[in-house]
Amino acid sequence: MILFFLSSTGQTTTKTDSSLKKLPGDRPTGQTTIKTDNGLRNFDGDSSSVKNKGLFLEPVEITAIRAGDKSPFTKLNINAGQIAKTNNGQDLPYILDQTPSVVVGSDAGNGIGYTNISIRGTDASRINMTLNGLPYNDAESQAIYFVDLPDFASSTNSIQIQRGVGTSSNGAGAFGATMNFSSNAFFPDPYAEFNNSFGSFNSWKNTLKAGSGLIGGHFTVDMRLSRISSNGYIDRATSDLKSAYFSTAYISNKTSIRFNIIMGSEKTYQAWNGVPESKLYGDSAQLQQETSSKLAAETARMKAEAKAQAATEKLANEGDSHRRLPACLACHINNSGGPIETPVITGQSEEYLLKQLNDFASGNRKNDVYGRMRDVASKLTPEERTALARYFQGTL
Ligand code: HEC
Repeated sequence: MILFFLSSTGQTTTKTDSSLKKLPGDRPTGQTTIKTDNGLRNFDGDSSSVKNKGLFLEPVEITAIRAGDKSPFTKLNINAGQIAKTNNGQDLPYILDQTPSVVVGSDAGNGIGYTNISIRGTDASRINMTLNGLPYNDAESQAIYFVDLPDFASSTNSIQIQRGVGTSSNGAGAFGATMNFSSNAFFPDPYAEFNNSFGSFNSWKNTLKAGSGLIGGHFTVDMRLSRISSNGYIDRATSDLKSAYFSTAYISNKTSIRFNIIMGSEKTYQAWNGVPESKLYGDSAQLQQETSSKLAAETARMKAEAKAQAATEKLANEGDSHRRLPACLACHINNSGGPIETPVITGQSEEYLLKQLNDFASGNRKNDVYGRMRDVASKLTPEERTALARYFQGTL
């Protein structure tokens, strides 16, 4: 994505209020009223002159859609310092996670990779997002996707969230909420910064930032390179994100021209059900074959499961005469007339039952009179013991 900004302001105006001349009192001459066009010009205390610091314009394109202190909108401003505190490489929604009415979600489960956001219960297709004043919502679905903006937070100097209908006039998205992000900060001094963070699930963030400061009194160049990677909290949810940001500006008294390039790429593993390759490339014969072989595999799996279940039920109810295995239920049945010391095994946990069967089989547990259970358990295969423990668990 390439964003291009051009802005200019009016001139500083100095106005003399002649009506004040008529006032009696200690003011000998006219009072000078000084009106400045933005906060960056400096009033030096002398009532008749404005000392111009030389530069500069504020990023005008943002202020046009931002709500001021007195505007009647529910809003929140987040500055660069606050962003830096929560910026650990997670996507933009996770940086806004602790702000009012924001609910976030993530495919990988840890906020890195594919994420989503809702504000006041309204989903991303009703939230209007602007980057430096430019609409960012997807033209097709109207939703906002952060997938192309890895680590954009590292280049963001301020965020305003307006909850509910706000000032933004950009599209229907502004119905639920409005978020505007500004990356147009002006850095007069050269800087270089290398940030690294590491967290759970092998999550890494490396950010390299540098800026030229003011060159020749008018030019600035800022850049950022980022790499974020994580295994994700969920299985098969790794992500590998790369992004670059480049911004150069010409700034003078009356004009500010800024050229921003924001680039991002993201590779995520498949945390959801993906599209088969044959469907993607329209290979219907291949698709049909895959579907029928999947169906056959599923049918075979279900048949095998039913067979195993029947075999387990048979062991429980009838035993296995070839191996001289009596039916479990010959002795273990509620209110049965089996050996007096036979415990009820239904209604116990699978883990407990399995452990007892294994202990009897290995001889670790030997408190059974005449070794009856040791004899039974040692004739069972490990798979049969697991299946029987599952069969008897919990059922009363
Ligand atoms: C001949 C009778 C008999 C048969 C058949 C029998 N058991 Fe047992 N089982 C017992 C007795 C008696 C005990 C109690 C041993 C003791 O006093 O510790 C027992 C204990 C157990 C326990 C431990 C229960 C607990 O609360 O600790 C499990 C589990 C168990 N049997 C599973 C089975 C399974 C599964 C089968 C079938 C494959 C089976 N038993 C077949 C007599 C039998």
